[in-house]
Amino acid sequence: MVQNSKQAIERAEAFCAANQIRVPILLAPMAGACPPSLSIAVANAGGLGACGALLMQPEAIRNWASEVHAGSNGAFQINLWIPDPAPCRDAAAEQAVKAFLASWGPAVAEDAGDARPPNFDAQCHAILEAGPAAISSIMGLYPPEFVEQMKARDIKWFANVTTVAEAKLAERAGADVIVAQGMEAGGHRGAFDARKAEAGMVGLFSLLPAICDTVRLPVIASGGISDARGVAAALILGASAVQIGTGFLRCPEAKIPTVWADAIGITKPEDTIVTRAFSGRLGRSLATPYAREAAASDAPKPAPYPVQRGLTQAMREQATKNNDLTGMQAWAGQSARLAPARAAAEIVQDFWAGARSLLGA
Ligand SMILES: Cc1cc2nc3c(=O)[nH]c(=O)nc-3n(C[C@H](O)[C@H](O)[C@H](O)COP(=O)(O)O)c2cc1C
Repeated sequence: MVQNSKQAIERAEAFCAANQIRVPILLAPMAGACPPSLSIAVANAGGLGACGALLMQPEAIRNWASEVHAGSNGAFQINLWIPDPAPCRDAAAEQAVKAFLASWGPAVAEDAGDARPPNFDAQCHAILEAGPAAISSIMGLYPPEFVEQMKARDIKWFANVTTVAEAKLAERAGADVIVAQGMEAGGHRGAFDARKAEAGMVGLFSLLPAICDTVRLPVIASGGISDARGVAAALILGASAVQIGTGFLRCPEAKIPTVWADAIGITKPEDTIVTRAFSGRLGRSLATPYAREAAASDAPKPAPYPVQRGLTQAMREQATKNNDLTGMQAWAGQSARLAPARAAAEIVQDFWAGARSLLGA
């Protein structure tokens, strides 16, 4: 249904009232790039803070939440990836990846491909205890028993989806809110079936209204939103709120390596790349030398997730330590150039004030 701007603002205000926030702007959960400082700043400005807990042990999740609770009364979400089926290993193919990686970073340890994320059940338990307003999922759906536990504690389930079909599955599984992730988005693409990620690349201008027309739940728009125009457009297309990742990465509170933050500010839409070369899962990053070379026709095919993540760990860590973009996992969305190098609170306030003004409020 086509909406006017008054209805769009009212829908966003209703979403805020129902989700313990004052501004319909959510920090995107970003594993490895969402320190407490960033959530504290966003939440104190009225938005929703976020923790991408994929790689965090339960104790780290608890510490993150206590630090945010100490710095803000505001609400936050905690996010987990739904585990993929066990990867099919291919020793010869992994050997080829290791040989390729040797020219980009330190020698790859023999057992590097065996690395696994922390125990999912233990993480689930820790995020329930951490007292978030919402728990979000990406790459699939939470099991029904966990959904029941969330609901028993009045915690909302925000389900990230990349297609209309996934949105329907999430609604049926009991999600409270759908996060529509357009293909512009920085970071990993949340396709439920890893093998279908490339085939399901849908831009937000198509995905968002299609999902809003299909589900009865509030929809959050995510992917390529990095200024007031994007916020206003998303609300007009039917969103109740927006979720922004790359747009917050240049804030001092994000504390990412300076070469990554600086490169985001000058990256045109056509200068990002979708690649499996960092983790084995498809994600959008800056078109760095490693990401480009790994896409060459003679480069070895990346191993499946999370094997590839383990194989590239030493390269990624060294690049981050040396503030060297060459082998860094430098995720970025297609609207990277719009990301302001400003305090996060100013971004929340200015994007919302600007969007309201564009919508005539
Ligand atoms: C550095 C980075 C890390 C990310 N990590 C996660 C994650 O752990 N879980 C998740 O659901 N989404 C993750 N994402 C995707 C974001 O939640 C969101 O979809 C994306 O940032 C939106 O697009 P934008 O970057 O253009 O704003 C990540 C994105 C970035 C840029």
